[in-house]
Amino acid sequence: MDIRDYLREKRLQMDAALERFLPPETEYPFSLYRAMRYSVFAGGKRLRPILAIAAYEAVGGTDDKIIPYACALEMVHTYSLIHDDLPAMDDDDYRRGKPSSHRVFGEALAILTGDALLTEAFGLMTRSEFVEGVERDVVIQVINEVSGAAGVQGMVGGQVVDIESEGKEVDFATVQWIHLHKTGALIIASVRMGGWLGGAGKKEMAALTRYGEGIGLAFQIVDDILDVEGNEADLGKKVGVDQKRRKVTYPAFIGVETSRTKAIELMESGLSALEIFDHKADRLRGIARFILERRY
Ligand code: IPE
Ligand code: IPE
Ligand code: MG
Ligand code: MG
Ligand code: MG
Repeated sequence: MDIRDYLREKRLQMDAALERFLPPETEYPFSLYRAMRYSVFAGGKRLRPILAIAAYEAVGGTDDKIIPYACALEMVHTYSLIHDDLPAMDDDDYRRGKPSSHRVFGEALAILTGDALLTEAFGLMTRSEFVEGVERDVVIQVINEVSGAAGVQGMVGGQVVDIESEGKEVDFATVQWIHLHKTGALIIASVRMGGWLGGAGKKEMAALTRYGEGIGLAFQIVDDILDVEGNEADLGKKVGVDQKRRKVTYPAFIGVETSRTKAIELMESGLSALEIFDHKADRLRGIARFILERRY
């Protein structure tokens, strides 16, 4: 199966699961549920949950017990996008091809919708019906992994330094730190989640982590490149905004071409980490290449 077919199939599977797990708009408080669904179902590649599933398959996982956990990743990610677009942060009006949450629902509800998605993600991972088929230690490990990746030494920490660095002279190590934390951390956690739930051994987990580190950083570098040369219609968000906000990005530091070379190197290092796996890791290999080639 072509990787794009796999991505489409898994995206549809994730959409259907998220549909089941998110509260219906017909329930009170209506506006909150509407806003949660608005951002989750505005679009999105579902890359983090798909990475978790692909890693799960790579270590031999076959059943659906990973699905609610994978959905939790997408809820955390969607929360991060809603808050990232707020006027106090990147102040972006478009996301996933639609007006940003705060443009439709106002800032207060957008903030609370992000809070809700973050909190409910952890609720979802601990629902007794889903915890049942998984070893307790593994559930705790997965929750610890996601909270670590989303928290102060992960996405939130990265976002803080990203915002504080706007328009400042920082060194290149800081740019890398920002990218690894604001974006890399959740991607690494997604891959490792698949490992934990699939029963990966120490060696497999180390390989998955190295893969996640490579593609996680590459993913944000490509996001930076697409902000320079991408297309608004494909991306579903405005382009050229990083330069306007004087963000510290890879292209701003080393130019687009060197950034691309760096991203390719990182992808290749991610691929080489997968050498210990057989064909079951082919989805992960395909996703690594997709991250480099993507236009959206
Ligand atoms: C955008 O992430 C934000 C970054 C971390 C770069 P994605 O490009 O995965 O966004 P969606 O989920 O497909 O909308
Ligand atoms: C976002 O980075 C990282 C997040 C944790 C949301 P960006 O600010 O570059 O993401 P986009 O370009 O707005 O999607
Ligand atoms: Mg940002
Ligand atoms: Mg942004
Ligand atoms: Mg960006």
